[in-house]
Amino acid sequence: MQDMPSLRGRRVLLGITGGVAAYKTPELVRRLRAAQVAVRVVLSHNARQFVAAGALAAVGAEIVEDHAPGMVHIDLARWADAVLIAPATAHVLSRLAAGAADDLLTTLCLATEAPLCVAPAMNRIMWLNPATRANCTRLEERGVRFIGPGEGAQACGESGPGRMSEPDEILEALERLWAEAGALRATRAVVTAGATYEALDPARGFTNRSSGKMGYAVAAALAAHGAAVTLISGPTALPAPLGVRRIPVTSACEMRDAVWACRGAMDLFVAAAAVADYRPQTVLAHKLKKDADTLTVTLVRNPDILAEVAQLNPRPFTVGFAAETGDVEALARAKRARKGIDLIVANPIDEAGVGFAGDDNRVILIDEDRAVAWTTAPKTEIARALVREIIKRLPRTV
Ligand code: C5P
Repeated sequence: MQDMPSLRGRRVLLGITGGVAAYKTPELVRRLRAAQVAVRVVLSHNARQFVAAGALAAVGAEIVEDHAPGMVHIDLARWADAVLIAPATAHVLSRLAAGAADDLLTTLCLATEAPLCVAPAMNRIMWLNPATRANCTRLEERGVRFIGPGEGAQACGESGPGRMSEPDEILEALERLWAEAGALRATRAVVTAGATYEALDPARGFTNRSSGKMGYAVAAALAAHGAAVTLISGPTALPAPLGVRRIPVTSACEMRDAVWACRGAMDLFVAAAAVADYRPQTVLAHKLKKDADTLTVTLVRNPDILAEVAQLNPRPFTVGFAAETGDVEALARAKRARKGIDLIVANPIDEAGVGFAGDDNRVILIDEDRAVAWTTAPKTEIARALVREIIKRLPRTV
């Protein structure tokens, strides 16, 4: 087995839920123990139909009983360097997505600050079911890491996505998790996300279709690499990712003030918000009546937060987004130069299925030297890849 230095001395809480792939877990435990990882195991009720506690104990796992007395969930939540659920059934994913705490495993998942990794295993139709898709998206948005699943022959006789990753792949994913975890430990990152809302009167205002998903995914990916992340967010229903400090704002001016307050303590600025370019010159104190046939509203320019941050001296590493239609790449290149920023992520908003409100995006990454087009992928995946690109370019502070 290859050397995996990031694993040595780590503590993994392994949750096993009731899928047939549970039969692979003694091998998983054996590999983890060989890499000098301490392993405690919590078996769900159904998991016991597929794997015997004795087999897991025989290869070095410490079995924790569900009915153990005292504050076991808190002790385990604090003990773990990572919680790994393998196999993770569709059922446990739905309970995690709902925040359930109806057994020891789900309770300790709520109580832990350690990274939570899941290795799903289920029939391909269950994996592709919109209910499961929605649960996975929700969990990813909260920073839960997915390992697999792979594709291939399934226990049910079908073939497709839903096979639990092999023990080797799971170990590699854990190794990557801890190898990456410290890469941004010394970095103070500020991320803007979502649309702004520019009030016209107490009931109405101007906004746009940005969901905030891209910015939230970037904030989660930065936090996963150890950055101290401040997420300055326009109105959205999204939950704040784990380990991220969120500052809710409404208008562009409020967003600008919140960013400005961070200016002395910002090594990295990622502007993913869809900031309104204009706001009503006057915000009416009373609701506007529909007396006239036409209505003229005078709009005034909002501050360009990203361009202002790029003027700071010393300035943080700056990353902007460019939602464009038409010749997306050329427009984004020009924008990068005009705003004086390091990196721009261009994305078309006139293609079906990608862009503003959806879960997927298709982007072109542009820096001073070149433009690289990435294939369409979930925003969470693009965010992780973007953070890897940022890490490569960040000036080394430590
Ligand atoms: O100029 P445009 O709005 O197309 O630029 C998009 C980029 O600039 C995004 O990164 C966005 O977050 C940022 N921006 C900003 N403040 C504005 C307008 C845009 O920070 N007022």
